[in-house]
Order: sequence, then C-alpha cells, then structure tokens
Amino acid sequence: MLSILVLHGPNLNLLGLREPGVYGIVTLDEINHQLTQEAEKLGVKISFLQSNHEGVLVDAIQGAYSQHQGILINPGAYTHTSVAIRDALAGVAIPTVEVHLSNIYRREAFRHHSYIAPIAIGQISGFGSDSYRLGLLALVEHLKKTL
Ligand code: DQA
Repeated sequence: MLSILVLHGPNLNLLGLREPGVYGIVTLDEINHQLTQEAEKLGVKISFLQSNHEGVLVDAIQGAYSQHQGILINPGAYTHTSVAIRDALAGVAIPTVEVHLSNIYRREAFRHHSYIAPIAIGQISGFGSDSYRLGLLALVEHLKKTL
C-alpha cells in the first residue's frame, strides 16, 4: 500500500485562530481528519507531522526515505526561506506536492518565491483547506501512474 507523509510547517498549528480572513476557520485537526478520509477512499496510508522547527521537518523528510512513497507538504513560511528543506526533499528524492491554503501569488511579494516549487512535482495554492485534498489526489494519481 502506498504511504504518504503529510508535513505541516510553522504556525499551521494555529489554523482556525490565525488570520481567519486569509487562512479560513478550519483547524489543522479537521484538515488531517479530511485527509484521512480521502486517503481511505484512495486506498493509501497517511501519516502527519506539524512542526514549528525547520530541523524537525528536515529530520522527518530524511526519516521518510524508504518509509513513504510520497510527501505532501505545506512548508508555511519556510517555503520562502528554507534551502535546508528543499535540499532534504531533493536528497531523499521522494515525489512531493507543495500546498498552500492561500494563493501565495496574490499576496506580498516575499511570498511569491518558493524554494520548494522547483523540486516538487507541482504546487496547489489558494483553495483553502481544499488545497490539501486536491494535493493528495494529485500526488496519489502521480504515484499510481509512475510507480
Ligand atoms: C502558507 C503561505 C505562507 O506564505 C505562510 O507563511 C504560511 C501559510 C499557506 O498555506 O497559505 O504560513 O503556506
């Protein structure tokens, strides 16, 4: 059975409270619950980790090697700053889909650049909590075609 690791970066633990006008009112637990249901429908295994710490995310990506066939990641603000997360994803070469709740290209200029996008299969940005569900679907369809 395909196994997918979902990584949530910094401040995503605050979803529901945090800038609801930008990120909506759905909590991280609710997003994980929706993804669990979606994974059941798709017939894949799914695991979750949220961390506010770059190194913890790097360790999780390294630990995914030979354990998970795909990574779905919302790197949060590390999207725009982290060469380390990009290098870890490139290093383990696990197919990755990048997701964002907000449309990062409609926001401040500093959010327009992603260090992750060039090493990801693709990016889904701007559909609120649905970005995760759409990202999981895109990742699993990609894996089923290629593995
Ligand atoms: C985000 C967008 C980032 O720019 C921001 O730093 C986040 C959340 C999103 O899901 O829209 O923390 O990744």
